[in-house]
Amino acid sequence: MTISLHLLVISSLVLIFPSLAQLTPSPTYTPPTASSGLASSTSTPNTQWSNVLGNSLYFYDAQRSGRLNEGTYGNRVEWRNDSALQDGSDWNLDLTGGWYDAGDYIKATFPLTFTLFALAWGALTHGEGYDQAQQTAYLDGTLRWGFDWLIKAHPSDDVLFVQVGSGDVDNAYWGGDENIPTPRPAYPINSSFPGVDAWSSAAAAFALGSMLYTPSISYNTTTSSSPPTSPSIANSTYASSLLSHARTLYNVANSTSNKTTYYDSLGESVSAYASSNWADDFTLSSLALAIATNESSYYLDAYNNYVMYAISGQKQVWNWDSAIPAIYVLFAEAAHARPALAAGAGLDRNLTGWQNETERYFDSIIDGSFKRSYLTRGGLLYFDGDSDEASLNPAMAIAMLMFKYAPIASTQDKTEQYISFAQGQLDYMLGKNPMNAVYLVGSHPNSPQNPHSAPASGGSNIKQIRTSPPTETYVLYGAMVGGPLSDDRFWDWRDDWVQTEVALDYNAMIPTLAAMQLLNQTSDPPYVNIQAGTYSIPSEQPCDAALPCSGGGLSKGAKAGIAIGVIVGVLLILAGLWYWKRRQISAWWSKGYRR
Ligand SMILES: *[C@@H]1O[C@H](CO)[C@@H](O)[C@H](O)[C@H]1NC(C)=O
Ligand SMILES: *[C@@H]1O[C@H](CO)[C@@H](O)[C@H](O)[C@H]1NC(C)=O
Ligand SMILES: *[C@@H]1O[C@H](CO)[C@@H](O)[C@H](O)[C@H]1NC(C)=O
Ligand SMILES: *[C@@H]1O[C@H](CO)[C@@H](O)[C@H](O)[C@H]1NC(C)=O
Ligand SMILES: *[C@@H]1O[C@H](CO)[C@@H](O)[C@H](O)[C@H]1NC(C)=O
Ligand SMILES: *[C@@H]1O[C@H](CO)[C@@H](O)[C@H](O)[C@H]1NC(C)=O
Ligand SMILES: *[C@@H]1O[C@H](CO)[C@@H](O)[C@H](O)[C@H]1NC(C)=O
Ligand SMILES: *[C@@H]1O[C@H](CO)[C@@H](O)[C@H](O)[C@H]1NC(C)=O
Ligand SMILES: *[C@@H]1O[C@H](CO)[C@@H](O)[C@H](O)[C@H]1NC(C)=O
Ligand SMILES: *[C@@H]1O[C@H](CO)[C@@H](O)[C@H](O)[C@H]1NC(C)=O
Repeated sequence: MTISLHLLVISSLVLIFPSLAQLTPSPTYTPPTASSGLASSTSTPNTQWSNVLGNSLYFYDAQRSGRLNEGTYGNRVEWRNDSALQDGSDWNLDLTGGWYDAGDYIKATFPLTFTLFALAWGALTHGEGYDQAQQTAYLDGTLRWGFDWLIKAHPSDDVLFVQVGSGDVDNAYWGGDENIPTPRPAYPINSSFPGVDAWSSAAAAFALGSMLYTPSISYNTTTSSSPPTSPSIANSTYASSLLSHARTLYNVANSTSNKTTYYDSLGESVSAYASSNWADDFTLSSLALAIATNESSYYLDAYNNYVMYAISGQKQVWNWDSAIPAIYVLFAEAAHARPALAAGAGLDRNLTGWQNETERYFDSIIDGSFKRSYLTRGGLLYFDGDSDEASLNPAMAIAMLMFKYAPIASTQDKTEQYISFAQGQLDYMLGKNPMNAVYLVGSHPNSPQNPHSAPASGGSNIKQIRTSPPTETYVLYGAMVGGPLSDDRFWDWRDDWVQTEVALDYNAMIPTLAAMQLLNQTSDPPYVNIQAGTYSIPSEQPCDAALPCSGGGLSKGAKAGIAIGVIVGVLLILAGLWYWKRRQISAWWSKGYRR
C-alpha cells in the first residue's frame, strides 16, 4: 500500500518534472563483466548498444581528478581515490576536478574542450539515444564534470588555464593515484600570452554545451518529420552560464590583435598538445556561437573566417588539432537548421554549397583520392601519419561525422554511402577485424586486457610497465584503446602506448556512435558473434613509435630524416673534397702560373 503510493507520487513527479528523472539514476549503472558481450540482446532498445553507450561514458568517471563525490552522482569507480587536491594552489585558485587526459596524470584543456565539443554535438542530434538507454543522468554528470572544471579554469575574461601538471614530472612517474608527484603547476594563457586556439576551442565547446542545456531547443538536422531529439537535461541556469563563458572567450579571441597559438606563447611546458594552427578553432567557434545564439553577427564572422583562412577544400582528419572537417558539417547543419542566420548576415543560405564542401571531403575519403588515406586490408580507414599512433581515433571521428551528416546529404545515394562507410568503421572497432579484437575494454572476452593506464594497471615500476603486474589490476571499462597498426595487427601490451593508451579524445565519439546505433536498429554490435579466445597477441615484435624496431619498422618521417641525413652527409663530403681539391688546384695553378 505505502509502496504503491510512493510509486504513484514518484511517477507523477517524474511526469511533472521530467528532469527529475535523470537526477538520481536508479539503479546505478555499472558495466557488466566482459562475458556479457557474448549474449545477444533480446530487448528494445538493444542491451548491447546501451552497454557500449554506458561503458564509454563510464570511462570518463575512471578518468576523474579531484574529489570523486562532487558530481551530480557519486563515484562509480570503486578503485579510484580522491587525488590532486592542491591543483591551482600555485595561483591561489581551486583547479581541482576535471579529468586526467590519458594514461597518466596531466590535465590538458585543449583535448578536453575537443572532447566536450564532440560529446555535446553528438548529444544535440542523437540525445534521445541516451534517454532510451537510461544514460541521460550519466551524460549530464559527465558533461557537468567537464564543464564545471572548464569554468574554474576560466576565472576571468582572458585567463584560461590550459594545463595542470608538468610533463617532466609526470612522465617520470608510473603508479597509482595516491602518490601522484608534485609540484603540479598550472599554466594560464592571458592577453599577454595569448592562445587563440585554446580560447576558441573552449568557446566552441561552451556554445554547444549551452544549446544542449537550453529548454526546448530546436536543432533539426534531418529531413524527417520526427527527428531524434536532444536528451532531457534542460537547465536554463546552466545553459546561460555556459553561454556567457562562450561569448566571453570568443570575444577575447576575436579582439586579440596578436593571434597566436597557446604553444607559441607558453612553449615546451605545454608541448603535449601543441596545435598547429588557431584559425580552424577560431572559425569553428564563431560558427558554434552563431548556431547556439541564432545571431547573425557570429555567422558573418564564421563566413569571413572561412574565406580569410582558406578553410575550403582542405583534406585533414578531424581531431583535437584539426577542426576543419567539423566546420564543413556544421555549416551544412546550420544551413539546414538555422536558415535565417545567413540571411541576417546578408549571405546566401547556401545549402547546396555546404553540401558540396562536405561531400567533396567525404567522397575523397571513400574514393581514395584523399591524400594519405586508404583502407587497411582489414578495412580500417588509415591516414598515414595521423593514424600511426591511435589508429582508431581518426576512423571513429570520420564515422561520427558521416553518420551525422548523412540525413542531409544531397542525394539518397550519398546518404546510404556515408552510412555504410561509417558503419564499416564502427564495426571494425567492435570486432569485425582480422584480429577478432574488440577494442573497447571490458566489453567482450576479446577486449584488450592491458590498456596503457597508470591508475588502472596497478603497477608502480616504470621500467616494467608491461609485466608488472602481469595482469592489469583494474578493468578500465569502456575505454577505447589506440588501436592496431596499419597491418591490422594489435599487440595487447601495456607499454605499447601507440596501441593500448586511452584518452579523453579517443573516446569522444563512442557515446554518440552508440546512441546513433541504438536509435536506428535492434541488431547487435558485431562482437556478440565473436567467439571468446579467438584473439591472440602476434608472436613477432611490433614496430611503432612506442616500441621501435630496426629497418622496416621506421615511419615515413624517420625514413625521410635518414634520407636527408645521408644526402647532407654526401654533400658535406663533396664540399670537403671540393675544398681540398680547390687548394690543390689553386696550388697547381699558382705553381703553373709562376712557372
Ligand atoms: C586507491 O586506494 C586504494 C587503497 O589504498 C588502493 O588499493 C588503490 O590501488 C588506489 N587506486 C589507484 C588507482 O591507485
Ligand atoms: C599571463 O600568463 C603568463 C604565462 O602563463 C604568466 O606567466 C603570467 O603570470 C600571466 N599574467 C597574469 C597577469 O596572470
Ligand atoms: C526538419 O526539417 C525538415 C526540412 O528539411 C522538415 O521536412 C521536417 O518536418 C523538420 N522536422 C521537424 C520536426 O521540424
Ligand atoms: C540547474 O543548474 C544549476 C547550475 O548548475 C543548479 O544549481 C541547479 O540545481 C540545476 N537545477 C536542476 C533542477 O537540476
Ligand atoms: C605575440 O605573442 C607571441 C607569443 O606569446 C609573442 O612572442 C610576441 O612577442 C607577441 N607579439 C606582439 C606584437 O605582442
Ligand atoms: C532564429 O532567428 C530567426 C529570425 O531571425 C527565427 O525565425 C528563428 O525561429 C530562430 N531560430 C531559433 C532556433 O531560435
Ligand atoms: C569580431 O571582430 C571583427 C573584426 O574586429 C568584428 O568586425 C566583428 O564584429 C567581431 N565579432 C563579434 C561577434 O563581435
Ligand atoms: C561544387 O563544387 C564543384 C567543384 O568541386 C564546383 O564546380 C561546383 O560549382 C560546386 N557547386 C556548388 C553548388 O557550389
Ligand atoms: C557556398 O559554399 C561554398 C562551398 O561549396 C563556399 O565556397 C562559398 O563561399 C559559400 N558561399 C556562401 C555565400 O556561403
Ligand atoms: C538504420 O538501419 C538500417 C537497417 O539496418 C540501415 O539500412 C540504415 O542505413 C541505418 N541508418 C542509419 C542512420 O544508421
